[in-house]
Amino acid sequence: MKNIIIIVGIMCGFLFAQKSELKNVKVLPYKSKRELVKFMKSVVAPELGVKCNFCHNTLDYSSDEKDHKKVARQMIAMVQQANKTMNDLNFHEISCWVCHRGNNHPEHPPKKK
Ligand code: HEC
Ligand code: HEC
Repeated sequence: MKNIIIIVGIMCGFLFAQKSELKNVKVLPYKSKRELVKFMKSVVAPELGVKCNFCHNTLDYSSDEKDHKKVARQMIAMVQQANKTMNDLNFHEISCWVCHRGNNHPEHPPKKK
């Protein structure tokens, strides 16, 4: 009996650890930190040509103290919205690269006369 209680206790501990792994994720669908960090490293940072600290206080990745992170969250939501349309059209999904091309500030179209 005692052993069962200990085992159940350990399992609950695991579940809790998994849940609290990501603290402040509001738009990305990832359940694990590993998947989310892979997306940050392979998409978000290189497609904008920046390092993690452009958006993050690297001592606390869950903090929203940097405005760039707040903008990025809305950009991610915008891209998700756009990809619903792209899927309806059977087109390839877009990502930050389509506009940013490795720059944090994409070029604006030339001014009309
Ligand atoms: C252009 C901005 C930007 C850059 C650069 C960036 N991130 Fe993020 N990161 C975000 C945003 C926005 C979120 C929150 C997403 C959401 O709310 O769904 C986030 C969330 C996270 C989280 C989840 C923290 C938590 O528990 O809430 C981790 C971990 C993280 N990023 C790691 C990284 C790492 C490592 C790098 C560098 C390789 C990086 N990020 C680069 C914007 C950025
Ligand atoms: C449809 C085009 C488009 C897409 C796709 C796009 N962005 Fe942007 N983004 C812009 C434009 C344009 C600006 C500059 C706004 C301005 O200065 O008027 C910008 C600005 C930003 C900024 C602020 C940069 C700064 O220097 O302050 C961040 C951060 C950002 N985008 C993150 C992202 C991320 C992350 C993605 C992918 C998830 C993304 N964007 C996808 C068009 C786009």
